[in-house]
Amino acid sequence: MAVHEIQRFSNSERFWHITGAATFIVLAVSGLGLYARELSWLTVLTGGPYLSKWVHFLAGLVFALCQVMNFVQWRRDCSEWAEVDGDWLRKSGGYLWSSHAEVPEQGRFNTGQKIMFWSTSLESLGLLTTGIVLWVPFVFPKGIASLSLLFHAFFGVTLIMLIVIHVYLATAANPGTFRAMWTGRVSAGWARFHHARWWKEVDRP
Ligand code: HEM
Repeated sequence: MAVHEIQRFSNSERFWHITGAATFIVLAVSGLGLYARELSWLTVLTGGPYLSKWVHFLAGLVFALCQVMNFVQWRRDCSEWAEVDGDWLRKSGGYLWSSHAEVPEQGRFNTGQKIMFWSTSLESLGLLTTGIVLWVPFVFPKGIASLSLLFHAFFGVTLIMLIVIHVYLATAANPGTFRAMWTGRVSAGWARFHHARWWKEVDRP
């Protein structure tokens, strides 16, 4: 590791996040293809209408496991709430009506990332439970199966929207962030700019 670089993510964190991201893409493509008739052509990418159901089911199980592992690894960092978080929200994280210079120093994850963590964790739990009902609907009362279909679609579509925003923030909006997950390392300048409190606490070479 170069002297001016800082370790941001461990190999295990990267493995579970990248596997989760890859399975999410498979889930989004197969899910949209199975759900909407207008998008059924998407199932061509995941093996046709019959195979897509199995691809969606198996990718869903892998995705759920990745989310459990991400939860275990990041829950502590994402559970620290302090006054600075309120301040971060009031200043829209420096993205909308305030500038980055006005935003308070952030720890390993900023307030927006913590909200993202809890939203994706809860949405994933919702997708898993409703998904299990939909896999064996005859085991449950009819009302539960219909509600599961409704909520599975709702969680799926809102999670896709969240991830589009997440990918934008993790790439084009904040240059130098994507490599944090890809290589596990960030530049000292990036760490000081985005997570100054974490940068002060972290062990540096
Ligand atoms: C599909 C492509 C994806 C890309 C390119 C991507 C990229 C990234 C990057 C670069 C980070 C590190 C941010 C940092 O160091 O500050 C990150 C963190 C994170 N990712 Fe992703 N991600 C993707 C998909 C997902 C999915 C599908 C989920 C969950 C459903 C997810 C959940 C998270 C969470 C909870 C974090 C930590 C908090 C945060 O940075 O928001 N990501 N992601």
